[in-house]
Amino acid sequence: MDKLVVDFRNRFPALSQQVYGKPLVYFDNAATSQRPDCVIELQERMTAYTCANVHRAVHRLALDATELYQQGREAAAAFIGAPSAGQVIFTSGTTAAINLVASCFTRRFLRKGDRILITEAEHHSNLVPWQFACELYGTELLVAPVTEDGSLDMDAFRKLLERDVKLVAVAHVTNVLGVVNPLHEIIAAAHQAGARVLVDGAQGIVHSRVDVGSLDCDFYAFSGHKIFAPTGIGILYGKRELLEEMPPYMGGGDMVDRVTFEKTTYGPLPLKFEAGTQNIAAAACLAPALKLAAEVQDSATLQDNLETTDRLLADQLSTIEGLHCPSLANPRRKGIFSFCIDGVHPTDAAEIMDKMGVAVRTGFMCAEPLIRKYSEHGMMRASLMPYNTPDEVDIFMEALRRAVKMLR
Ligand SMILES: Cc1ncc(COP(=O)(O)O)c(C=O)c1O
Repeated sequence: MDKLVVDFRNRFPALSQQVYGKPLVYFDNAATSQRPDCVIELQERMTAYTCANVHRAVHRLALDATELYQQGREAAAAFIGAPSAGQVIFTSGTTAAINLVASCFTRRFLRKGDRILITEAEHHSNLVPWQFACELYGTELLVAPVTEDGSLDMDAFRKLLERDVKLVAVAHVTNVLGVVNPLHEIIAAAHQAGARVLVDGAQGIVHSRVDVGSLDCDFYAFSGHKIFAPTGIGILYGKRELLEEMPPYMGGGDMVDRVTFEKTTYGPLPLKFEAGTQNIAAAACLAPALKLAAEVQDSATLQDNLETTDRLLADQLSTIEGLHCPSLANPRRKGIFSFCIDGVHPTDAAEIMDKMGVAVRTGFMCAEPLIRKYSEHGMMRASLMPYNTPDEVDIFMEALRRAVKMLR
């Protein structure tokens, strides 16, 4: 193994542990990534020594916490190419970010009969909030299908766009199939049809360099915990003119300008959307997490390692009799494999594999309508990061083969 890969792995303490006396093989990265030393160190330091609220007090601890918090916001803005940190709103995660847009954008811009277009491969976080919006505002939800290999059916998508769609909400990379959607094409077509576009970047932020300016998306949402940061922090980027026009999401401290019993005016962006105390340490940790993520994305060695590991896993999975992985050979698939195996319940298999130290996800993976197309028992998902290695693929495959043998 390349020394750089070994050194990189060593930065993640969780990866060198044993479970049930076996070395951990962590292939559940699409659920949450492991955390590197620099993030753990900052989170511990802030918990131990910089535990203060932000924006409010004038004492040293509050000033230090505020500065670290702001550095997290600036790091997130730089990472996605946002023109200003004011357009980067802290949320608790992708789910909260999409709910914010589903509530505030819909309330301000959509009318009864307007249509919202999603795809068949969306996570529940990019489906259920739009169902709420439809119930509340009388809008209608349209769903664009995916083709057999898990690609978005662009012809069907373009046809649906003609039906007075005002908002398109689409994953950058789908969480089950791992397919990178052609965002430039989707966004250009949506804009031409007069629709705004929200991109669910929960998976897309991990493996591709995002530039919201060149994408020209109207909103981009992602979670810190999928890209080395702690849980409980996420980002909503939005175009300034939309964020300015949208009403606030929640009311409370920090989001106001002037408050009287008769009327309240709201603070400037991003504070207007950030009522109450946020997850301060997690927000600050975005700075080291995204700095590392940028280094990883720029490292030819780590990207080669990911590609090699992915290729090996794809080759090996294709040798299992009765295994169905819709996007296995899709050239747009990135680091994610969801599959079912004839005669094998995925969760039973995952429990056996867990005892061999292998961590995978199974079930409906918060994409029930899509997964029910392929299997009534759910699927198994293996998802990779650049710290995973070909040696781990061997262990994973041995565990999978043994589970299949025991269960068939
Ligand atoms: C594509 C996609 N969207 C949204 C989410 C929700 O993210 P979170 O639970 O961090 O809010 C996930 C999480 O798995 C996801 O993969």
